[in-house]
Amino acid sequence: MDLAMRPWRSVLYIPGSNARALDKARGLPVDAIIFDLEDAVAAEEKAAARTLLAGELAKGGYGARARLVRVNGLDTDWGRDDLAAFAGAEVDGVLIPKVGSAADVQAVADNVPEVPLWAMIETCRGVLNAAEIAAHPRLAGFVLGTNDLAKELGCRGRSAMGASLQLCLLAARAEGIVCLDGVYNAFKDEDGLRAECADGRDLGFDGKTLIHPAQVGITNEAFAPSQDEVELARRQIAAFAEAEAAGKGVAVVDGRIVENLHIVTAKALLAKADAIAAMES
Ligand code: COA
Ligand code: MG
Repeated sequence: MDLAMRPWRSVLYIPGSNARALDKARGLPVDAIIFDLEDAVAAEEKAAARTLLAGELAKGGYGARARLVRVNGLDTDWGRDDLAAFAGAEVDGVLIPKVGSAADVQAVADNVPEVPLWAMIETCRGVLNAAEIAAHPRLAGFVLGTNDLAKELGCRGRSAMGASLQLCLLAARAEGIVCLDGVYNAFKDEDGLRAECADGRDLGFDGKTLIHPAQVGITNEAFAPSQDEVELARRQIAAFAEAEAAGKGVAVVDGRIVENLHIVTAKALLAKADAIAAMES
């Protein structure tokens, strides 16, 4: 499936060392999985996790879910071996941690000739260089690492990260790449998750990264167009076609003007709804 045409509502991290979770993911209704070899895997488990994950990916069974592997950085003892193990087969993308510049992306691109690359934006330098990172020709998407970013910023609470989130979104949208929100740590707090999903969706994120299966349903719902939105989009398209046929460039629906630019948005919304329906069938 074309990257941009895929849904990216729910993107679940799975520690590459957790055999039970790796298997469980084959039955979870997530749009994508981040198989993690980096921070969710302890140093002494790194090599075993790499072997386990390679075996599970070769076994398959992940269906239409996009498969991203988060490797260790090239400045660690494990980065090169991770890249060698996942350079081609069985993955839809390689996610690079702690990207600070386009040069960091290029260093990985030199080792991985074909797979689309994704960047964790989770350092202050990464946020400030988001535009050049997004513009790297191999880059397919951003994943926000809000825990690391909060740690480096020394900030508290989500509103303190607003400027960072929006810089990343601006850069991603300017280059037409995917942009995924950070995780919500309190995985038993459904109301808190729902509120943060709504916030991320309204900011413009394509979806949210998750740490626990219990977060999937709420996230899928929040990032999917609602039935009301789908119906409004259809009515806007119909009304605008009618206006155009009458030689007009503007229609009115529910007391609001509808111009060509709204039709572009309405069609994108319907395409997203179709992509979600295809994912769920
Ligand atoms: N992906 C897939 N399955 C998962 C999962 C995940 N991220 N997290 C938990 N599960 C599974 C468990 O294996 C368990 O399966 P089972 O019922 O078949 O045994 C089930 O979901 C319930 O798990 P639960 O007991 O509620 O959670 P836990 O206490 O085992 O684990 C965490 C809690 C937070 C440690 C765990 O969810 C986790 O490791 N999340 C990912 C963390 C991560 O990747 N961080 C890096 C990026 S921020
Ligand atoms: Mg991190």
